[in-house]
Amino acid sequence: MARSGVCRRSRDLEGVGTGMEKKEIDWSGLGFEYVQTDKRFVANYRNGAWDEGALSGDANVVINECAGVLQYSQSCFEGLKAYTTEDGRIVTFRPDMNGQRMEDSCKRLEMPVFPKEKFVEAVLQTVKANEAYVPPYGSGATLYIRPYMFASGSVIGVKPASEYQFRIFTTPVGPYFKGGAKPITIRVCDYDRAAPNGTGHIKAGLNYAMSLYAIVDAHKQGYDENMYLDAATRTKVEETGGANFLFITKDNKVVTPKSGSILPSITRRSLMYVAKEYLGLETEEREVYKEELTEFAECGLCGTAAVISPVGKIVDHGKEICLPSGMEAMGPVTQKLYDTLTGIQMGRIKAPEGWIQEIR
Ligand code: PLP
Ligand code: COI
Repeated sequence: MARSGVCRRSRDLEGVGTGMEKKEIDWSGLGFEYVQTDKRFVANYRNGAWDEGALSGDANVVINECAGVLQYSQSCFEGLKAYTTEDGRIVTFRPDMNGQRMEDSCKRLEMPVFPKEKFVEAVLQTVKANEAYVPPYGSGATLYIRPYMFASGSVIGVKPASEYQFRIFTTPVGPYFKGGAKPITIRVCDYDRAAPNGTGHIKAGLNYAMSLYAIVDAHKQGYDENMYLDAATRTKVEETGGANFLFITKDNKVVTPKSGSILPSITRRSLMYVAKEYLGLETEEREVYKEELTEFAECGLCGTAAVISPVGKIVDHGKEICLPSGMEAMGPVTQKLYDTLTGIQMGRIKAPEGWIQEIR
């Protein structure tokens, strides 16, 4: 899905107006692909405690063949971004929320919690160390931050490991979907992503492994993404493989599905706040039935990677549901939400207290 726009020449360029050496990268040509950066944070959990952790230049991980992550997929991750603001600062968006969500993921997966305060410190330290890779303001690219944890200790019986590694790497990225802000087409999916009382509400690597067959199949059939339904009744809208849904009703209400088996998206929770408090829109978090899809005016996918990606068409087993906002551009309410959220992230609009963590 993603484009690669990295210029692989090694010469560095002087960062405009900052005195900092920016890497020579075609920032606006970047897709959502891994580009190795200089430093990553690494901490190890052994004998019941985390060590201090440190930055490392080594992008490779060496673990035992019987490591818990390799045998039983004991791993979880997070995703957030660093932005260059209009006035040249480097900031992150609500990293404490990612720290909290990772704590929740760890508890559900019988992994040791990496405390959220240390998580935030490590995020800031890692971004600072890779400042040369933070895309410039206005380039359309951002620095994606990927914290993750995995069982590094060996286990052969099905049980939690006793050793873990927590790491954070960064990678400059462009839009998650190839067309950027162009509306996408999704299909109602026959495969399930998460079970009731399962792990859909946490960011476990295994949830994503589960979705790979379905996304490859969706792409083969010409769709950009899957709309997953609730596994129990297959009547309610859940989310996609990497984003929550937002719907706009014909009378401009912002509606998002409520479910115990979707990931509590930080972007979605922020957008619901922005809709209400910044744009004065009515908001509703409630069960959304597949049968209602024909009634909405706009639909978008929201997440750190997706930001808000407009959906133009939903295909339900041959039946096409064309959103009135069309296939050419974002609908007007989605656009306002997008502009306000990205305005907050890029420092053009005053953020609610505590949303922006300054790095430099
Ligand atoms: N849903 C899933 C399954 C995701 O992987 C993500 C990405 O993190 C989201 C939703 C969006 O969450 P957030 O806005 O916190 O990035
Ligand atoms: C994110 O938006 O950060 C995600 O984790 C979604 C996807 C890239 C896995």
